[in-house]
Amino acid sequence: MSGLLSSSLGRKLIMSVTGLFLMLFLTVHLSVNLLLMFGDGELFNQAAHFMATNPAVKIMEPILAAGFIFHIFYATIITVRNQKARPVKYAVTKGNELTSWSSKNMYILGGMLFIFMAIHIANFFWHIKFGEMHQVTYDNGLTYVDDTYSLVAGLFINYWMYDVLYIIGAILLGLHLSHGFWSAFQTIGWNSNVWIKRLEIVAKVFAVVMAVGFSIIPLFFLFFK
Ligand code: HEM
Repeated sequence: MSGLLSSSLGRKLIMSVTGLFLMLFLTVHLSVNLLLMFGDGELFNQAAHFMATNPAVKIMEPILAAGFIFHIFYATIITVRNQKARPVKYAVTKGNELTSWSSKNMYILGGMLFIFMAIHIANFFWHIKFGEMHQVTYDNGLTYVDDTYSLVAGLFINYWMYDVLYIIGAILLGLHLSHGFWSAFQTIGWNSNVWIKRLEIVAKVFAVVMAVGFSIIPLFFLFFK
């Protein structure tokens, strides 16, 4: 096991597996967040309540945190080693410029995403777990849940700079994923000529869906609420 963690291929494999796991989280996270744009907030509050109280999701929370830590830790090791091994930069590669720019700047994009994540966790997760939350009641007083909808809506409606920040975060995420998704599958062995082409397309579609999906939420509150 320690051999796997310290070999170059092992490190790439851990980046891929943790990255794929984080992508799964993002897909669920975006699906729940899109509910913010439907109805008066009940749909989103009920879904957020389900996510916060469901035992299976609770088990996933520390695994998710560990996934992030491993992903960032191994990204740092890989980047430092690559810098040492390659003091002279490669010549500019041909091909899709945006994809090759993303691929060369994965660590920088990841670092900027990390700053976004720190602000994002403070905005919502920290507030929900450790702050004072307003509660709402549904089902004629049968259920009381945190009013997470008002927390998110309040931030996006009252502070346009957060709308801008979240749109920038979504674009950074899209760029990071446009290379990361494709690269993750390539590392785990889907690297035949046919699959590389297909995965490149799927990676781009996934990256655009994530970037657009996460951007339309702040835009919705900015312009329609
Ligand atoms: C419109 C954009 C977004 C909204 C409205 C949003 C909303 C939220 C909310 C309300 C929470 C707290 C959930 C809870 O603890 O009950 C949360 C947590 C979290 N978000 Fe986001 N988010 C957005 C974008 C993102 C993006 C782009 C990422 C990743 C790059 C991300 C990653 C996370 C993580 C890791 C957590 C902590 C784990 C969790 O509570 O599930 N979010 N988000």
